[in-house]
Amino acid sequence: MDRTFLMVKPRAVSEGLTGPILAELEKGGFRIVGLASRRLTSDEAHIFYDVHVGKPFFDTLLEFVTSGMTVGVLLEAPDAVPALRAFIGATDPEKAEPGTIRATYGKSLTQNAVHASDSPERVMHESAIHFGDCPRTIAG
Ligand code: CDP
Ligand code: MG
Repeated sequence: MDRTFLMVKPRAVSEGLTGPILAELEKGGFRIVGLASRRLTSDEAHIFYDVHVGKPFFDTLLEFVTSGMTVGVLLEAPDAVPALRAFIGATDPEKAEPGTIRATYGKSLTQNAVHASDSPERVMHESAIHFGDCPRTIAG
């Protein structure tokens, strides 16, 4: 069983969509093994999105992701990293496959409801902000 990381982004949290999103993940075969809410600081958001620093959309993304509470979720499933990426759908909700999390709950390219890590290395990097440096020690 592999582990991956998802973050519910601020607008989805403030609109009360965390519960429905978590329910869909569980129905989809992902087991929740960690849950932590956090409002990211600007420094934390820079670390979280370090691969996008300097891109044209970075400032908008940073402002959005620090605008309210987020919910970090550690999930277990077979082939968890690619399975979750497929389950949430394409980055742009308008292009995401019907039935995916982003198609159902996303509002726009920036406000696309959730983030999901795209490699085991990024799971460690990105989950550290919500869960500390040792997410594998969280009981599951
Ligand atoms: O989240 P994902 O890995 O699917 O996409 P990304 O290319 O790694 O971009 C990270 C996040 O930046 C996206 O989820 C969008 O919220 C945002 N983004 C944006 O606002 N405008 C773009 N042109 C591309 C990405
Ligand atoms: Mg990405």
